[in-house]
Amino acid sequence: MRKQVLIYLAIYACIYAIALVTALLTKPTFFSNILGFVAILNYICSLAPGIFRIILPGSRKNKFLNYLLKHRRFLGVSAFLLALNHGALQIIKRQLNLLDPITYLHYFQGFSMLTILTLLAITSSDESVKSFKRNWKNFTN
Ligand code: HEM
Repeated sequence: MRKQVLIYLAIYACIYAIALVTALLTKPTFFSNILGFVAILNYICSLAPGIFRIILPGSRKNKFLNYLLKHRRFLGVSAFLLALNHGALQIIKRQLNLLDPITYLHYFQGFSMLTILTLLAITSSDESVKSFKRNWKNFTN
């Protein structure tokens, strides 16, 4: 388990480094946009196996989808971390006033998406999985 977490952290660090290098090589620099984009990709990958299982039952044998399913938790948690980083950079870059309710209306999509990812990340811990038991599957699907 500990080895698995270290591998996940190494993969996450690589994703982050690649995003950083890509941003430095492309002008003008859009580092936070790349993070937001990779976050979306990770989130799609975490949802894809469940969706395909429902609409195409034959896809249960698909190796790629089974691989994504096996690493679903990592994909979801890394989507949250990347999106959090993207959101924080945008807040700093645009000097958003978090005490102003208009900010939340103006950036409704970003804040609501971040709320969803935060809830999923919090409920991804082993303790949450145990305490939610069956309901956890319904919540994450
Ligand atoms: C605190 C919450 C968030 C704020 C304030 C925020 C703000 C922004 C802003 C201002 C842009 C436009 C950037 C530009 O035009 O240069 C943007 C783009 C984007 N955001 Fe967010 N965002 C937030 C959360 C998220 C989340 C949670 C995701 C994904 C899971 C996300 C994904 C994206 C993507 C994919 C883009 C487009 C990047 C591109 O145009 O290349 N954002 N965001």
